[in-house]
Amino acid sequence: MYKYSIFIIHIIFFAIVSTKLYPEDIYSLETCNIPEEFSYINQNEFNSRYGSEKYLAKPVVFRQIPINKQFLNLIQLDSILRRYGNKYITVTTANTYSYKKQYIKLNDYISSQKESPVKSKWGNETFYWFGDDLLNDQKWLHQMLRYYKPPPYVVGDFFEPSLNFGMGGIGTGVPFHFHGPGFQQMIVGRKRWYLSIEKPFFDPNETTTEWAIEKRFKRKQPFLYECTLHPGDIIFFPNLWWHATLNLDFSIFISTFLSL
Ligand SMILES: *[C@@H]1O[C@H](CO)[C@@H](O)[C@H](O)[C@H]1NC(C)=O
Ligand SMILES: *[C@@H]1O[C@H](CO)[C@@H](O)[C@H](O)[C@H]1NC(C)=O
Repeated sequence: MYKYSIFIIHIIFFAIVSTKLYPEDIYSLETCNIPEEFSYINQNEFNSRYGSEKYLAKPVVFRQIPINKQFLNLIQLDSILRRYGNKYITVTTANTYSYKKQYIKLNDYISSQKESPVKSKWGNETFYWFGDDLLNDQKWLHQMLRYYKPPPYVVGDFFEPSLNFGMGGIGTGVPFHFHGPGFQQMIVGRKRWYLSIEKPFFDPNETTTEWAIEKRFKRKQPFLYECTLHPGDIIFFPNLWWHATLNLDFSIFISTFLSL
């Protein structure tokens, strides 16, 4: 009997302890429950497999889609630093609702992001560059993006692509939010994606790292699709689906947002 209760206590203890990930473990997450394709499929196949309406759609990951050489050369970090290091970029706080902006030299941003994991618990205190280039440096970014070939799909009535370039250090990312449909391709580094059709349980000011380590286990979540993307991989995020991202390495990526 005594032995038996020790066993039960162990189980209970384990259940409590295992509702949390060790912080260093998130950087090696590789599981993927999102459907995968290993090359582009045609538009009809895309429509029938991944849909276009909110409730019929589902995410998909295209693995290892080649990025054209010319663009890859332009996008290398040393090349970007040499050409554009002195340009100012617009970085934004990584929280869900209240975006605060800051202008910073690309050089300074990159050196801050190259330091090992970004430590702040709060997204509203962490600045992140995810392609908000509307005010600064439109020209050089747009010139570079001209060489990028976006995924060849329309999603229902959403057909007009607009490109966004982003870069972030290990442990950075954007907490849950939603918008129109689109794609994102990793150029450098790995990124973990979390998607859900229903609103997940999260604190809009908390970083995705905090959520992934602790908060997600605190309450029952709606069904979460999750996957780690490697360089070359492309994810499709359906219209109005909640999604959050977490860079597992220093990352460079391109988003293609589709509008009506
Ligand atoms: C960020 O959010 C947290 C929690 O909501 C809050 O305590 C903190 O004061 C906020 N920081 C800033 C700079 O607004
Ligand atoms: C999040 O942070 C902002 C400012 O940084 C603050 O105004 C807001 O109250 C915070 N929200 C929550 C839910 O803590």
